[in-house]
Amino acid sequence: MNKKVGLSPEGHLLANNFRVPRDANSNSGLNEELIGQLIQLGVLSTLSDTTQPIDLHRNFQGWKSQRGMLLDTRRTRAFRDAIEQTIRGGETVIDVGSGSGILSMFAARAGAKEVFALEITSAIELSRLIAQRNGLHAIEFIQGDAGNFEADSKVDLIISEFIGMYVLDEWLHFSAFAKVRDANLKEDGKVIPKSAQMYLSAIDNHRLYVERGQGFWETPVFGFDFSDVLAVETTRPQREIVYQFEEKSIVDTASVASFDFKTSKVDDYFFEKELEFTYAAAGFCHGFLGHFDLEVVEGKCISTSPLESSTNWRQSYFPMPKIAVEAGEKINLVFRTFKNSESGEFCIGLQLKNRRAEEQPPELVYVLDSAS
Ligand SMILES: C[S@@+](CC[C@H](N)C(=O)[O-])C[C@H]1O[C@@H](n2cnc3c(N)ncnc32)[C@H](O)[C@@H]1O
Repeated sequence: MNKKVGLSPEGHLLANNFRVPRDANSNSGLNEELIGQLIQLGVLSTLSDTTQPIDLHRNFQGWKSQRGMLLDTRRTRAFRDAIEQTIRGGETVIDVGSGSGILSMFAARAGAKEVFALEITSAIELSRLIAQRNGLHAIEFIQGDAGNFEADSKVDLIISEFIGMYVLDEWLHFSAFAKVRDANLKEDGKVIPKSAQMYLSAIDNHRLYVERGQGFWETPVFGFDFSDVLAVETTRPQREIVYQFEEKSIVDTASVASFDFKTSKVDDYFFEKELEFTYAAAGFCHGFLGHFDLEVVEGKCISTSPLESSTNWRQSYFPMPKIAVEAGEKINLVFRTFKNSESGEFCIGLQLKNRRAEEQPPELVYVLDSAS
């Protein structure tokens, strides 16, 4: 067998291509002794707390996804400019999750003395070749989970694009970045990107609600009553990635969280905050729209606002059964993030507060999966 099976710290998982059935004792269907022996034989390997899920891994090893990120010129130019502005010549750099190798190549071209390009997927093989073809010999490509990397001496700069569709999605990649940063960055060293600020807006947009939210099931479909699906979609709602540019649909926007990437820890990604949205005019709440601003380098920001031109992150729509709101009324919402203890998935919970009983659904839980 040349495929490796990985076990998550909870013992849940998972193979490169197949899942291990669970049982009541170990969650993996294998007893402890057998697991130990398989690890010793090299058939099983333990996944660390910075290893991305297998689906995301598959997504990133394909060049379709790397191409998608390169094609986002607002993103890629902003990182290029930040790297060129920061590197003066002779620096040592770590690129955490180098993917296509683009950020490492920007760093090497700008004059870095040594760049460690750390990438977990097999995309690294081609990116190594591409760097060589472009005469960039200062880059050392190292395949594996970046979280465990320790350079011989501390480095000047750490670059990494660990920003999920709504910042938090790639929390395991961020966790790897934070570990690499804490173990390897000089005290006066720099990180790119610098910070992020997340926002959530209440939205009034019937069309989006019908096309991507529960609204589709509210009226007959080809003359048939499909409203049973409404109940299911309400208890298991899905975050939708959209590009939403109708200014008038944004009712009010609240600040959700901010992160300083020189100091933030992965624990900071787990939080609870109460948000308030004011309806100046009467209308509807068709759910919420998340976006963020990314400060790539001091003073240079990419906004993923629905009112700016689109990026590969677009916006995250959190659909919710519609509620009518009166002029001057406020919507109160508890926004919380947590890890599902069973599946290990990163979740966002949204709980409306202070509504009339019939409009007070239980907390709606959205699983973030970046591959969407
Ligand atoms: C969003 S992509 C960015 C790729 C490239 N740096 C760019 O900016 O175009 C993130 C990359 O990080 C890699 N990655 C995620 N977690 C990692 C980890 N723990 N160790 C190494 N690579 C990781 C993924 O496989 C993926 O190629």
